[in-house]
Amino acid sequence: MKVLIASKTVVATDIVSFELVSTDGRNLPAFSAGAHIDVTPTAGVTRQYSLLNSPAETHRYRIAVLREPNSRGGSRAMHALAMGEILEIGEPRNHFPLDETARHSILLAGGIGITPILSMAERLAQAGASFELHYCVRDEDRAAFRERLSAADLLHRAKLYTDIGANASHISFDEVFGAPADDKHFYVCGPGGFIEAALSSATRLGWRDSNQHREFFGAASAPAIQGGAFTIELAKSGRRVEVTADETAFAALARAGVEIPTSCEQGVCGTCLTRVLGGKPDHRDLYLTEAEKAANDQFLPCCSRSLSPVLVVDL
Ligand code: FES
Repeated sequence: MKVLIASKTVVATDIVSFELVSTDGRNLPAFSAGAHIDVTPTAGVTRQYSLLNSPAETHRYRIAVLREPNSRGGSRAMHALAMGEILEIGEPRNHFPLDETARHSILLAGGIGITPILSMAERLAQAGASFELHYCVRDEDRAAFRERLSAADLLHRAKLYTDIGANASHISFDEVFGAPADDKHFYVCGPGGFIEAALSSATRLGWRDSNQHREFFGAASAPAIQGGAFTIELAKSGRRVEVTADETAFAALARAGVEIPTSCEQGVCGTCLTRVLGGKPDHRDLYLTEAEKAANDQFLPCCSRSLSPVLVVDL
């Protein structure tokens, strides 16, 4: 759908926030906390951005974009947009939903990972739920939405950590998580290293996989295409598609006329998730949990491959 950029604001060093509204004054499709939208800032470039505002708001979507020094084109194109322009976006989808049955939720954001986390905080605050928010940034100038986080309903629940500066302080994931409990959940979003550190702390402390929720923000770089050739068998037709060593499974399927929806093409968003009926995938994505990977019943053909000579998929 087409939306209007109602405002563009610098909210921290290298981070701009956009307010998107419908072009005809109507409400936008509803979303839940943790949802993201596909945004096409320029032809041929589509990126996913988390909605950061309260899901109770129906008149606008808010997103924020970090200028990436090694941008593949997405963040540069986004930063070049101006207020008043029309932008093409997709409807909200949520691969990072809140479990609202939790007794207590721990929200963890690293850098630009604050965006879905802020929407979750808005939702939990509004529901009167028990939660805490931990926000880690390199320095104070890179902390976005500080005004919102200092408002009365969030102030006592939000804590800022900076790597450098006069008030530098470092998060201890072990202390933040504490002992696991069935009705305690955490949500982490940020750079890969930040998420990995949080997950390894939680696993060490005995947290169940189902209580750990994470969303990566795009792989640091495009996943390498490496590994041997293999065959994909399409269960519905019995057709076989050869995947060469230097192409992705998605590319091989597209070449054979089999269309799979994709978005990030980096193993991050889950759009291309495909059911596996036989064989063993070589999971290279950041989307599936360890338990989901171990089940070997689904894979992401935009980046993952096969450990078995033949992978049978539900297509
Ligand atoms: S297209 Fe995003 S995970 Fe495959």
